[in-house]
Amino acid sequence: MCGISAIASHRPVAGSLLQCLKNLEYRGYDSCGMAIFDQGKIELRKNVGHVAKVDEVEQFHEMQGQIGIAHTRWATHGGVTQANSHPHASNDGTFVVVHNGIFSNYQALRNELKSKGFVFHSDTDTEVLANLLQDLYVGIGDVEKTFVAAVKRLEGSYAVAVLTPYLPNQILGAKKDSPLVLGLGDGENYLTSDINAYISQTRDTVLLGDLEYVIVSKENYQVKSLVTGETLHKEVIQVQWDKETAKMGGYSHFMLKEIFDQPQTVNNALAIDDTQIQAVAERFLSKTHNFACGVGTTFYVAMVTSYLFKRYAGLYVPAVSSDEFPTLLPLSADQHTLFFSQSGETYDTRMAVRAAQNAGGATSAVVNVVGSSISQMVDQCIFQGSGPEICVVSTKAAFSQVVIGWRIAMRVGRLNGTLPAAEEQRILGVLASFSDLLERTLNEESGFIRQLAKKTSHIHNWLFMGKDIYYPVALESALKMKEVTYLHAEGLPAGFLKHGTLAMVDEKLYSLFFLPSPEEGELYRSTLAAIEEVKARNGVVVSFATEDNHEAREKMDYCIQLPKLPKELNPLMQLVLAQLFSYYSALHLGLNIDKPRNLAKSVTVG
Ligand code: M6R
Repeated sequence: MCGISAIASHRPVAGSLLQCLKNLEYRGYDSCGMAIFDQGKIELRKNVGHVAKVDEVEQFHEMQGQIGIAHTRWATHGGVTQANSHPHASNDGTFVVVHNGIFSNYQALRNELKSKGFVFHSDTDTEVLANLLQDLYVGIGDVEKTFVAAVKRLEGSYAVAVLTPYLPNQILGAKKDSPLVLGLGDGENYLTSDINAYISQTRDTVLLGDLEYVIVSKENYQVKSLVTGETLHKEVIQVQWDKETAKMGGYSHFMLKEIFDQPQTVNNALAIDDTQIQAVAERFLSKTHNFACGVGTTFYVAMVTSYLFKRYAGLYVPAVSSDEFPTLLPLSADQHTLFFSQSGETYDTRMAVRAAQNAGGATSAVVNVVGSSISQMVDQCIFQGSGPEICVVSTKAAFSQVVIGWRIAMRVGRLNGTLPAAEEQRILGVLASFSDLLERTLNEESGFIRQLAKKTSHIHNWLFMGKDIYYPVALESALKMKEVTYLHAEGLPAGFLKHGTLAMVDEKLYSLFFLPSPEEGELYRSTLAAIEEVKARNGVVVSFATEDNHEAREKMDYCIQLPKLPKELNPLMQLVLAQLFSYYSALHLGLNIDKPRNLAKSVTVG
């Protein structure tokens, strides 16, 4: 997640662009920059660090001109360096670009442009668009047509804004699967990632749709379809949010926003370059012993991954909690460990990485924060590109890690001959279909889940249960519930119930079961059997089922309805719906959801 701002105005824009950068800083704060057109040329300043720090160094206010673009970056491709900061200029400086999202085909475009003599100064995917525009303009000679031709060659997700001296009074922008909105001011117009950028100046907003582009000047704008080229007549809406609400994109809390960000998070995780997945997968095959490691939520991500390694690669990859890793394992050089960490700074995980490395073992990691300690310590790092996660409790970052772990497990399976290539492709297709389904289900089920949370928020003791991959899903969901509601939720394997915990069950104990789909055969049957064990002792059961699964629904007191979905997506869907249940329970209890008591986003001490 990055923040784009662009302004065409009747007055100098440097000050307003700086304010936009500050307003969008929550979307990313690795680096920032600005490009402003004045007197026939574009001046570009950018550097690493928070906006205030970069402004001290670059003195943005000195820049002259009434039209410009700016960007605050959350690194996805390439480290946190001045060269990788946005805006990016084409080789001859005639096209300057800011971008949010990932061009998944950037490597192919980059190679193509290199073969034509273009030189790249950064490791970013964004720079290819600047050079592609320069390249295409030579043949087309019209900026708008060049822009459309270039954008049509992009794959993946993007919101872009482009400045060029060939069109000195206008800014071009386009979007697909990344946000971009138009703010209509008095003698000036804004094109930004969200309304938070300009809400202190204007509330008149045009929401741009996917595969639409816009040409913005200080007095006018025109929105067109990238597909048909026709002009689109868009409604101007009046945004009523206050500034804080705007920052949360209209959601009441960052947790809710981040839960609803997850359809996009899945796409970002799937857009990660295949070579990175392959590189980590190869490390699994280079050693005799492999482990997956994280702590708190990321330990549960490691556990989910462990089940996926069994399923797709026929391997037992034990999941180990970072805090136990150095003492539990006989560490050696013949080991590889895959670490998960949102922040990349967690003390326990850093110590586990160090312990693995001290023994000579290989290390790789999936990390959200570029430039973080763990990303620099390990031999191989995949940046998950989930964007900043502001809420202390992890939702979207963990979810993205699960998808990336899924891809790694499947690739190891393909490399060791367990998983046919066609099956890997099929499952990737299933995962790619998840985004739309998840978005729809979140919208459809929110109302019911909210009501359910209201009915049950007085319950102080919960059991969260599942089998197989649903077991770590239950553990993670119980942790989420504890973190935001301070209620007791114990996660356990459904098969474990009758070995002791069943003694607790009575009409006052509520159980949330994560239920496999009937297609999963014995797994489904044995989970249903556990539900029956609870029902037989008058326990109250909440679980998940599709509308037509009468057999399961009859056994539940409350059923959260699932859409028809491929069995692979069933645990993922339940994980997200359980996040929502925790959120609404905490909301009903009136708790500080984004900053629960006693917790910190990044636990950097032992
Ligand atoms: O930044 P990390 O992913 O390394 O953090 C690990 C845990 O501290 C973290 O997941 C913690 O459990 C969260 N509060 C979960 O919501």
